[in-house]
Amino acid sequence: MNSGIITRVMKSADRVLELLYDRRGGFVAADELCARGAIAPGRLAKTIESLQQRGQAIEFSPAQGYRLAMPCRLDAHLVEHGLGTRRVGRNVICFDEVGSTNDVAFDSARQAGADGLVVLAESQRAGRGRLGRKWVSPPGKNVLMSVVLLDPQTAGETPAGREGRIPSPLLPHEAVTIAAGLAAAEGIEAACGLAGELKWPNDVLIDGAKVCGVLVEVHRLAKGGVCTVVGMGINANALPPAEDVDRPAVSLAERLGQAVDRIEVARAVLRRLDVWVANIAQGRIDELHDAWMARCGMVNHRVSVSYRGATHTGRVLDVSPLEGLILCRDDGTYVHLKARGATVVG
Ligand code: BTN
Repeated sequence: MNSGIITRVMKSADRVLELLYDRRGGFVAADELCARGAIAPGRLAKTIESLQQRGQAIEFSPAQGYRLAMPCRLDAHLVEHGLGTRRVGRNVICFDEVGSTNDVAFDSARQAGADGLVVLAESQRAGRGRLGRKWVSPPGKNVLMSVVLLDPQTAGETPAGREGRIPSPLLPHEAVTIAAGLAAAEGIEAACGLAGELKWPNDVLIDGAKVCGVLVEVHRLAKGGVCTVVGMGINANALPPAEDVDRPAVSLAERLGQAVDRIEVARAVLRRLDVWVANIAQGRIDELHDAWMARCGMVNHRVSVSYRGATHTGRVLDVSPLEGLILCRDDGTYVHLKARGATVVG
């Protein structure tokens, strides 16, 4: 097959997958798939087979047509389809298994057009969390994704810097860290109706249990410039093994009483991240601050914070996503713990 035919076959398969996905587990008649997918009737079975080889479970009923078992497997095309973002998710890739999606994202950052790239994986061999912790997730159940954000110098060499795309000025690491947790909470709420709370700096909790963790890493690229990778792990349909968590965890499925569609969750989170990254790029940090504060339930709660080798325990008097925490310690003294280098440990 020449490359033009391969591209056409891929496009038809993508279109058929979209049609099946948009029916949300309902049947789509073969005639409709052919007509709307621009496929000759004799080729439909082959197209369905190619989607099954991509790992999608598609059922056939002679009377009703085809249906995609939901929730379906992650698929780059489905995540991109209808995403409607400007920067985040301009390209999406999905893997069965990687070491860490953050590492794949960094490796991809060297390529042209990497700004906004989203890397998803069904499983990670060496997923990592903050503070040198592991991030373990049962395969095929959760959202494990990383987003590449390049600084202007680097992104200028990519289409992100061209006309029609938003410019991408230097993104302050702290602001991106905050935006990522907020985007995750907002996206989860948009997709599933579950209101998540933020625990400084960027854990997302539902009723006190962790549903999402965010790891933002910054690397200097060999070709010059800086690459920020936003990594997110969302417990969509499964919990991490009990031995791998140091605090209560919850999954969206557990809360909803039914499995969730990871594609919808990923898209909703990416849409919110796109909005906040654009705001940060335009210097609109106040809005980010206010939206983050509105979801933070820490004020007046007793916490322990590890900061520069010491642990401080007390009641939170004030918290700011970018400035840090003011704590009234158990001994009655006050301390201001700056955002950088502090982490809530309990
Ligand atoms: C934390 O709460 O400690 C942060 C967890 C971040 C986990 C995600 S999963 C996708 C991405 N790849 C990684 O290796 N880590 C992040």
